[in-house]
Amino acid sequence: MPHSDDLLWDAVSGLSRFAALLTMAELGVADHLAHGPVTTEELAERCGADSHALRRVLRELAGMGLIREAGADGHDLTERGAALRSDAPDSIRSSIRMLGEEGFWYAMGNLPTTVRTGRSAFAAQYGHLYEHLAARPETSRLFDDYMRARAVTFTDGLAKRYDFSRAGTMVDIAGGKGHILATVLQANPGMRGVLFDLEHVAESAREWLGGEGLADRCDVVAGDFFAEVPAGGDVYLLASVLHNWGDDDAVRILRNVRRAMAPTGRVLLLEVVLPDDEAPHLGKDLDMRMLAIFDGAVERSRQEYAVLLDQAGLKLADVVELGAGASLIEAVPS
Ligand SMILES: C[S@@+](CC[C@H](N)C(=O)[O-])C[C@H]1O[C@@H](n2cnc3c(N)ncnc32)[C@H](O)[C@@H]1O
Repeated sequence: MPHSDDLLWDAVSGLSRFAALLTMAELGVADHLAHGPVTTEELAERCGADSHALRRVLRELAGMGLIREAGADGHDLTERGAALRSDAPDSIRSSIRMLGEEGFWYAMGNLPTTVRTGRSAFAAQYGHLYEHLAARPETSRLFDDYMRARAVTFTDGLAKRYDFSRAGTMVDIAGGKGHILATVLQANPGMRGVLFDLEHVAESAREWLGGEGLADRCDVVAGDFFAEVPAGGDVYLLASVLHNWGDDDAVRILRNVRRAMAPTGRVLLLEVVLPDDEAPHLGKDLDMRMLAIFDGAVERSRQEYAVLLDQAGLKLADVVELGAGASLIEAVPS
């Protein structure tokens, strides 16, 4: 096949590599290799797979550096592959399973339809993502795990690079299972936290925060941020929240936060901020997913966030880079 443009063909091959990765995650290949090398036949048996088909996927995974040969027809996990073990500290298995979930595949495959119609093909087929998740507890848990795993790349940056010393209580709006709040509270022992999210997510947040030993420093409140959000916080964090919503909805959420916060309070938006140039950027990749999955969701530039904040009675005060493409936008009442 002619490789006239490596980047182009690399993107095309990325589809095969992701499908192999998804197969590895779904079949639990890393878990079955966790205790040492295994032959193809044995692995197929453990995974409940066809050995001939599995062998071909293992060959692709070896090319990706996730699996290595070990003896005659044996396979072992590499260090990189071990990140797919369910018990790895920062396991990426749930994230891959979530991104390969039927609806997400459908959404990306139907991006041309979304672009033709201007309406999310996912939303037309499956409804709003968060209603879809509320009706599917197992997928919802995968999503929350995916949110936690992807946040590992920047939560340390948040705890280290933002000064929480003046904050008594942080309210984590739509905080998922509470992984970001937990990191901030663990780094700031004098602080208290409030985790706010939809009812079905609040349940897993109680479990997670309890497991982190934070039950007595954290309240978990279930609710809808379009109605109201808990009052009395010094800092309101909205991590990867506004990018799920169009401008009118995003301003409604921000206005509810503005109403609930004290005049001395601060709002922190944790988002991937789009650059103004044409270089490749994580935010532009993420924006394809926002476009495919939601009606209205969009990644924004610093200036676009400033405009939203302004409409909600807030003003952008600072932007702190957290690493891994994530930025923290600090805002105060205007
Ligand atoms: C992209 S996730 C971000 C989770 C977390 N902040 C993080 O960064 O890991 C968006 C969150 O918004 C929550 N959410 C969606 N609609 C909501 C609503 N109407 N009220 C409160 N939370 C909502 C979802 O349940 C989900 O946990």
